[in-house]
Amino acid sequence: MKRRAFLAGGGALLLAGCTSTPTPATTPDASATAATAEPTPSPTPEASTKTPATPPPDERSGEGLAVPYEVDGIIVVSPAHRVSAAYVPAWAERPNGLHPDAAAGFTALAAAAQADGLALSLRSGYRSYATQKASFERALRTYPEETARRYYAEPGASEHQTGLSLDAWDGSNRGSAFARTPQAAWLAAHATTHGFIVRYPQDKTTITGYAWESWHLRWVGTEVSAAFAPDPSLTLEEFLGLA
Ligand code: DAL
Ligand code: ZN
Repeated sequence: MKRRAFLAGGGALLLAGCTSTPTPATTPDASATAATAEPTPSPTPEASTKTPATPPPDERSGEGLAVPYEVDGIIVVSPAHRVSAAYVPAWAERPNGLHPDAAAGFTALAAAAQADGLALSLRSGYRSYATQKASFERALRTYPEETARRYYAEPGASEHQTGLSLDAWDGSNRGSAFARTPQAAWLAAHATTHGFIVRYPQDKTTITGYAWESWHLRWVGTEVSAAFAPDPSLTLEEFLGLA
């Protein structure tokens, strides 16, 4: 399958020292009640039919990469594939720091939700390494460590640093409260139609490293997201042969 270049690291500029001030993650992904939403890990990840990924880049030093790891042109940022503080995507200074296609995709997604009677808005888009660091450290001070690590990526391990991911909400419910909203159910059913995947599905913690986040969407484009439509609980790791 030919994948679009916007997903690749080649489309990103490195703006070390960038002083942009993206939407801060003043209100992190998970609410204090999110601990109750922790899933039961699945011990048997689905087999992938994809070509195995090329060997991972050298991350043995523990430092992240200045250019994100990618498979078949799809950027992967995760606990296993980190980026450094030097990685700042070219679109970081756009509104919400989102890639233009992701931003347009979310506009279309929100319009489709509205057409179905559901208000959906963007709560957090791009987050810099520094912003994520502050968010993660605040979570460690606020929650038990295991809970914090399930809902908050360490700096360098957050997809938000790519500007290809965002947190959606209904304007009032966060964390496990959002998971119970009709918006969350709608996203699970319809996000793939509009080029997004729910990146951390329920019961996939052993694969993704994170708890179920019904609100965290990853833009992959409609060609790729169509492959997730039959099983929206499929993870990017499984799809790309990384699980
Ligand atoms: N909530 C996700 C895992 C993040 O912090 O990037
Ligand atoms: Zn998120």
